[in-house]
Amino acid sequence: MRTIHVKSPSNIAFVKYWGQRDADFVLPFNDSVSMNLSHCYTDVVMEILEDPAIQEMQIKEFGSSEYRPSTPIELEKVTRFYDTAKAFLNAELSFGFRIQSANSFPQKAGIASSASFFSAMALAFVKAFQTAITQEQLSVLARLSGSGSACRSIPDGFVWWNTGLDSNSSFAVSIAPPTHWDVCDVVLVVSKGEKKVSSIEGHAQATTSPLFTQRQQMLPTVLADMKDALLKKDFTRFGVRVEQEAINFHAVMMTQTPPLFYWSGSTMTCLREVVHLREQGVECYSTIDAGENIHVICLSAQVEQVRAHFAQVPEVQTIITNSAAVGAREV
Ligand code: PMV
Repeated sequence: MRTIHVKSPSNIAFVKYWGQRDADFVLPFNDSVSMNLSHCYTDVVMEILEDPAIQEMQIKEFGSSEYRPSTPIELEKVTRFYDTAKAFLNAELSFGFRIQSANSFPQKAGIASSASFFSAMALAFVKAFQTAITQEQLSVLARLSGSGSACRSIPDGFVWWNTGLDSNSSFAVSIAPPTHWDVCDVVLVVSKGEKKVSSIEGHAQATTSPLFTQRQQMLPTVLADMKDALLKKDFTRFGVRVEQEAINFHAVMMTQTPPLFYWSGSTMTCLREVVHLREQGVECYSTIDAGENIHVICLSAQVEQVRAHFAQVPEVQTIITNSAAVGAREV
């Protein structure tokens, strides 16, 4: 019996991927840019068993000290990904597994828990099948899990996912190491409940938004300017772009059919507080994924002021501060 232990970060997208030009191969319409999160990660321990019939998983939720058995739906996603990995790696041998997965943050609440989980699983399966592949191929495999953003949790630090021409060329690469910049993501958890509409369902309807094409037309300029600001560490130019892009992304979701409203009243309160803080001279910007929690982007020098401010906001239940982190690793 072998045991594999991997840890992989969630990532926050500064330019989001929304809509899939090929749902079977999880190919996006646009490039996206993200940062791996130091304190939002999934820890996976996988026992490899000789009997391929044994496929089990236990999950430790955020805030819980106990593991619970996975639901049939959760396990099905993993067994399907096992089959995908086996085919992708041309592996001949089969094995069974017992997985223990623990999250350092709430699942399915807009902090990309599927990205950290499936990037960890991609690395674990590659180790389990004992195949040597490049980091680019590992990123492709993570993407094929169904959670496209998982491909961005493989490389280190600040990451760029190229749409690519086909499945093999659609992977993420690092554009700067974690040490490049002390940008922080202060996550304001206002809800620990799971979102009601999954991103897979949301991606499928993205093109029904009248704003979809407009956002796609704007993105090449946004992406180029954001990359330039990131590499030159121009925080104001970077932050303004990040906040505008998140609002545009949500405008697409709100105007697709059926509409997706991820923002709650608590989200709006925090978005206004970010603007208010900025007016008071604390430079920070907001971004939001497909969920109601808010990510406040600031430099490390402003983290304590941001945290102290939001600790007083009644809607905020938990604050998780992240800096840029390395990608998926064996522990
Ligand atoms: O990773 P997926 O396929 O579940 O899609 C999620 C995409 C967003 O998190 C909403 C945006 C992004 O680019 O991370």
